Amino acid sequence: MAKSPLIRKCLFPAAGYGTRFLPATKAMPKEMLPIVNKPLIQYGVEEALEAGMTQIGFITGRGKRAIGDHFDTSYELEHQIQGTSKERYLDDIRNVMDNCDFVFMRQREMLGLGHAILTGEPMIGPEPFAVILADDLCAAPTEGDDKKALSQLTALYERYQCSIIAIEEVPNEDTGSYGIISGDEIADGIYQVKDMVEKPNPEDAPTNMAIIGRYILTPEIFGYLRNTKPGANGEIQITDALRQLAQERQVLAVKFKGRRFDCGSVEGFIEATNYYYENDYIK
Ligand code: UTP
Repeated sequence: MAKSPLIRKCLFPAAGYGTRFLPATKAMPKEMLPIVNKPLIQYGVEEALEAGMTQIGFITGRGKRAIGDHFDTSYELEHQIQGTSKERYLDDIRNVMDNCDFVFMRQREMLGLGHAILTGEPMIGPEPFAVILADDLCAAPTEGDDKKALSQLTALYERYQCSIIAIEEVPNEDTGSYGIISGDEIADGIYQVKDMVEKPNPEDAPTNMAIIGRYILTPEIFGYLRNTKPGANGEIQITDALRQLAQERQVLAVKFKGRRFDCGSVEGFIEATNYYYENDYIK
């Protein structure tokens, strides 16, 4: 019998306003912006499926309906291209639709990433789960057999059975854009988190190890999130809840292999577009 995966569910917080991409995001979700010909959110769902997760939860809000339509059949369009060479463009999306179940939950007020994750609690229940921020686009390593970032985290979860976050070293002057961790290196590239702080100024940052948008969380996080007061930017920050969790239980941070593009910023988005056009797109 096939081994059932330890982590089955993946949450995609996608309720944010995407102000850095205005006016493109005025009526269209940021997560639907395409890198070449595929929306950001589809790359994320493919990464979750690669890691064995088939229960996909989207945290959405007003103006995000296109996400639901994207993961649904489009009869008219499919009828039109049936049997033509264009059908291959739908292979990847059909694969995720055939293998995943989708649940949509609305975050009525955008009170921050921590609050968005808490909105997903009814779908997650008492089991470990993953979180992907689709605007952090993670490409698989170009060397070796490693899979994408979330699969690397999942492999570590099997060993350590605790919350695990992906990190990356960023230039010192950029710490103000990230959650930053400090901790002890317990194995190559794996840190036992001691502390973390959201968006510190470079002079206050304990390290330059930044949290990026891939998390494995144990369900105790919901209790911590409920007790988390609004922090940086007046939002309920996942970093603040994880900080508490790290002080009372084990939280690991791992330098994942592969390349990450910050597609929430215009510069990162352009870099990703060039990279995927050269390396991923079947011309
Ligand atoms: P960002 O900080 O990138 O915010 O959120 P944003 O609104 O998407 O983009 P900008 O900064 O205005 O350009 C990080 C992630 O958390 C989600 C976002 O959708 C994004 O995936 N998020 C943030 C929520 O789902 N709800 C929130 O209340 C805040």
